Amino acid sequence: MSDSLLRRVVVETFGGVEQLKIREERLPIPGAGHVRVRITSIGMNHADLMARAGQYRLSSGDPPFTPGLEAGGIIEALGPGVTGRRLGERVVIGPDAPRRENAGCGGTYRSHYLVPAEQTFLAPAQVPDEQLGGFWLTYLTAWGCLAWRQPVQPGQFIGLPAASSGVALAAAQIVKERGATPIGLTSSPDKVARLKALSGCAYAEVVATRDAQGQTTPWYKDIKRLTQDHGIDVWFDPVAAGDFLNSEIRTLAQEGTIWVYGLLGDPGVVDVTPLIRKHASIRGWSLGELTEAGPKAFEPGCRHILEQFAAGHYHQHVERTFKLDEVQQAHAYMHQGRHLGKLFLVP
Ligand SMILES: NC(=O)c1ccc[n+]([C@@H]2O[C@H](COP(=O)([O-])OP(=O)(O)OC[C@H]3O[C@@H](n4cnc5c(N)ncnc54)[C@H](OP(=O)(O)O)[C@@H]3O)[C@@H](O)[C@H]2O)c1
Repeated sequence: MSDSLLRRVVVETFGGVEQLKIREERLPIPGAGHVRVRITSIGMNHADLMARAGQYRLSSGDPPFTPGLEAGGIIEALGPGVTGRRLGERVVIGPDAPRRENAGCGGTYRSHYLVPAEQTFLAPAQVPDEQLGGFWLTYLTAWGCLAWRQPVQPGQFIGLPAASSGVALAAAQIVKERGATPIGLTSSPDKVARLKALSGCAYAEVVATRDAQGQTTPWYKDIKRLTQDHGIDVWFDPVAAGDFLNSEIRTLAQEGTIWVYGLLGDPGVVDVTPLIRKHASIRGWSLGELTEAGPKAFEPGCRHILEQFAAGHYHQHVERTFKLDEVQQAHAYMHQGRHLGKLFLVP
């Protein structure tokens, strides 16, 4: 690969992993107030798979587009008028940069990224170059809901389905830091011990929702026992459908909330009537609500997350790193759902 070329992944038609193609272009020169970052780390997210398949047009738009919602790297060129940033600094691309249509920054699956200097954050020295791109979709999604939108209170029980996902692992650390009790739910029984054994794992307990044969377990009984019949004060849930949601409603504490932030589960009939007696609610959450509220809303969250990493309190579990050229294998691997934590692409 030539240093004078930018390499990026392009989806020209919605579809399977074979639609992820690498394109080479001339290296762009940063304009006024912009920096060029040599990307060293791209965080992969479930949303990237959905975007490729045409299930997330709100984020991707129509093809052709470059997927990717987060990245980090090293500043290698400064545009005119840049102050406050220097060549060689390690930075994390701000959470709104890949999202803003009018900023023209685009998706992050690429080797170099042009971004306004003010939309970068200095990276914590403790985090290696290959992991600079994985803070926002996991930690900021959780922080936005559980610290900004509806702050978790000390002593509460917080339920975290899809416990092995990057988002839930991050949420558990944020919940614990706020003095509440995070309880993870995982759909696969073999992951219970693996999750508990993870270094820095913050779950107080992990419960399997299926047995080894794939049959649903009566996991709501475990929740009742673990919360001493109090129930879950806040479910932070990306599964959110059918019987799963019924059991969440059933185990919800008085005046509890179910925050739905993904739709991994299969649709089905849901009985919401217990919400009346419990004075409880089901609400939707997306990171977009926080980024659209502007830098004053999301920057405190970004700073909190980076400071907690710098202090060694938050830990990202990295399952595997792929080269950018291996993007097709990386998507196929993520699709299998056997990983624990974060997957990265490295250009
Ligand atoms: N609203 C937002 O702003 C926002 C932001 C970021 C992510 N998300 C959503 O958060 C979810 C996790 O994202 P991620 O990138 O962290 O994903 P990920 O690391 O790929 O996590 C996937 C995990 O979800 C669980 N899962 C997968 N399919 C499932 C199914 N059909 N039923 C139940 N559980 C299933 C599995 O965990 P277990 O085996 O442990 O159950 C799987 O390991 C996705 O739905 C994503 O769209 C939403």
